[in-house]
Amino acid sequence: HDKHVLHISWFTESMSAGRPVPVEIRHYIQVSDALEVLAENLELSGNQGPSLAFRKAASVLKSLPAALRRQEETQHLPCLGEHSRAIIEEISECGSSSRVEEILNDERYRTMKLFSSVFGVGPKTAENWFCRGLRTFEQVLSEPSVRLNRMQTAGFLFYEDISKPVSRTEASALKIIVEEAVICVNPSATVSITGGFRRGKEFGHDVDFIIKTPEAGQEDVILPAVIKRFKSQNILLYSDLQESTFDLRKLPTHCFDAMDHFGKCFLIMKLKHEQEMDARAGKDWKAVRVDLVAPPLERFTYALLGWTGSTLFLRDLRRFARLERGKLLDNHALYDKATNTFLPANTEEDIFAHLGLEYIEPWQRNA
Ligand code: CTP
Ligand code: MN
Ligand code: MN
Ligand code: MN
Repeated sequence: HDKHVLHISWFTESMSAGRPVPVEIRHYIQVSDALEVLAENLELSGNQGPSLAFRKAASVLKSLPAALRRQEETQHLPCLGEHSRAIIEEISECGSSSRVEEILNDERYRTMKLFSSVFGVGPKTAENWFCRGLRTFEQVLSEPSVRLNRMQTAGFLFYEDISKPVSRTEASALKIIVEEAVICVNPSATVSITGGFRRGKEFGHDVDFIIKTPEAGQEDVILPAVIKRFKSQNILLYSDLQESTFDLRKLPTHCFDAMDHFGKCFLIMKLKHEQEMDARAGKDWKAVRVDLVAPPLERFTYALLGWTGSTLFLRDLRRFARLERGKLLDNHALYDKATNTFLPANTEEDIFAHLGLEYIEPWQRNA
């Protein structure tokens, strides 16, 4: 599974003059990276649907034990569409794909990718800036008509730190800090790491935590209290608290990408370095993205499954539940359409059992 740990960063950032500049695009080293470029290019143009085929094909290739050598080997693989196969064939014959090369050299793609790498900047904002002729961070930041919101301001302010991968060691250090704050606020609450680190990844773009509170209603007060504590400790650089809009009576949705309704917060926290000082910046901490979610106890297991991901794995699981089992699954619940009942789950094993699946360990969910 550690194949999934390696995220190829297509831009090497030169931090000269304190701003990142795309210098050279690295060549793709695996066919899956090429397919991900195609997916990303579609996503940056708002074509989420069509990008999925490439994401899935890339995921299948990444799960192979050895590098794909001969094109014939793809014949037995699932999820590879005509288009993906053609790209694979081209790369195995020519060593590269002309379409992928074209995208990698495309000014629009490069600029959109650069802009949307900023926390708080989505494809729409990136496109807006691109269409106004802006190409670099410096141009964006010195353009008077550009109004950054609070999230984007933080995104630029802490860009250097938060665009670096977060290590497992850093995640563990943050767990201690988050756990301390949570227990201080509510001694009966517990904290678990979720997201990519729960799936065994060595690096992540953030650290995700899920908080379990044993009494009804506690989930609604814990996040504001934890944020308040972080503030008093002077370790909070940015926070966006989204209060719960959860309605226990509502059915799970059919929509795969629907955001859940639990109380959650998206934070940027100060993590003190263990030993060495960042001499250049003269600071002894690193800004790290942290997500916290606090679901009500009776929905904890579904929230844990959803927040463990991966996004692609969950999308497939929901699709399987709906099409093969007539059940609706989301971060809140599993609903059986045949009996019109919600299926309770105390553990993730229960959920897989409801779906008639063998238990799938978190580290096997890195699709
Ligand atoms: N998630 C969610 N609802 C949100 C935010 C995230 O259900 N509002 C889920 C995502 O779908 C994903 C998991 O939480 O399955 C973790 O999200 P994220 O941190 O973006 O991805 P990771 O898999 O942890 O990868 P990374 O290492 O890049 O952080
Ligand atoms: Mn994460
Ligand atoms: Mn991610
Ligand atoms: Mn996250």
